[in-house]
Amino acid sequence: MRFDRIWLDARLATLAPDRPGLGAVERAALACRDGSIVYAGPQADLPAGWDARERVALDGRWVTPGLIDCHTHIVHAGDRAEEFERRLNGASYAQIAQAGGGILSTVRATRAASEDALVAQSLPRLERLLAEGVTSIEIKSGYGLALESEMRMLRAARRLARERPVHVETSFLGAHALPPEAQGDKERYIDAVCDDMIPQVARAGLADAVDAFCEGIAFQPSQIARVFAAARKAGLAVKLHADQLSNLHGARLAAAHGALSADHLEYADDAGAAAMAAARTVAVLLPGAFYTLRETQLPPLQSFRRHGVAMALATDCNPGSSPVTSLLLMMNMAATLFGLTIEEAIAGVTREAARALGRLAQFGTLEAGKRCDLAIWNIERPAELVYRVGFNPLHARVWNGQ
Ligand code: NIG
Ligand code: FE
Repeated sequence: MRFDRIWLDARLATLAPDRPGLGAVERAALACRDGSIVYAGPQADLPAGWDARERVALDGRWVTPGLIDCHTHIVHAGDRAEEFERRLNGASYAQIAQAGGGILSTVRATRAASEDALVAQSLPRLERLLAEGVTSIEIKSGYGLALESEMRMLRAARRLARERPVHVETSFLGAHALPPEAQGDKERYIDAVCDDMIPQVARAGLADAVDAFCEGIAFQPSQIARVFAAARKAGLAVKLHADQLSNLHGARLAAAHGALSADHLEYADDAGAAAMAAARTVAVLLPGAFYTLRETQLPPLQSFRRHGVAMALATDCNPGSSPVTSLLLMMNMAATLFGLTIEEAIAGVTREAARALGRLAQFGTLEAGKRCDLAIWNIERPAELVYRVGFNPLHARVWNGQ
């Protein structure tokens, strides 16, 4: 067999679902052809007579699947440092939102930015993520809140995939907040999201999924249900910002609509976790928002474990509640603040994040047939990826075999 490239003398954390724990293989080799993994396993078991155009000796380095950030708002303009100061002085996230700041202040900046400006402002954030071994990223709209500006955000997100070697999944988040011109009429705005925006965004091929924000300061479950129905009609998968600041039973709602994921979930309850397990909806935990908002309510981890809900982890990179561009830091926070195990933290940014995007068949593990997305690390043991704070041990990143 002739490979394009082979990495030798590696230690693999394959994350293969049929193997226990991290699916570790010592004294391993990994080979790729045409951008796909064709072998990942013991070096001694390589097919006889193999040959490769390029050989890379890894001297025992650990290889994980390329990291996946499955929940971000990296495309946006401006920042909210001033709001951060106000929160330090005692204002709450919800108070700031109700006073027309918060998400709406980023909406003002984003509406005023051209597509080029959005790409230029987002690239440094993307680069920080790539420098930590990220090979796939999900990017949401939601700071335009009108057809034209939402489409501009999604086009900027798609362009990032052409500007850098990374896979981008986009989510239309029109139901993120009520724009000022709606003058308080949430029902009418949701009409526009369902009847106008979702069909047009879908027709333009700009979104892979539809997301929404179910919260007192955003939209009610009945409004979210209408958004999800419109998404299904347009052939798009759904996901939800659920139970972040209060329990509106968003976890149950997401599950009832077969959502890929329900995200945040600090206020979700055991019944919500059970519903998610039954619907195979992934729990996406966002410790950066928990930390930034100084939340004290922990997501119901024991319920997720008991019911067998898959758990992913993401940065939620956004200018308000999670100005974070480090997935490694999220792994540390998920362990220290939420109590995730090392295995859960690593699976959460690889296999389970791919599952949350509905892409586990394409990437997220080191198995033959998957895209050859790798993160190669200068570490002695996998726990080091979670243990250090603010240290990046990436040796090399491989995307699509390159
Ligand atoms: O995921 N929860 C709602 N949306 C974002 C916050 C967006 C913002 O504050 O700009 C989140 O936390
Ligand atoms: Fe978010």
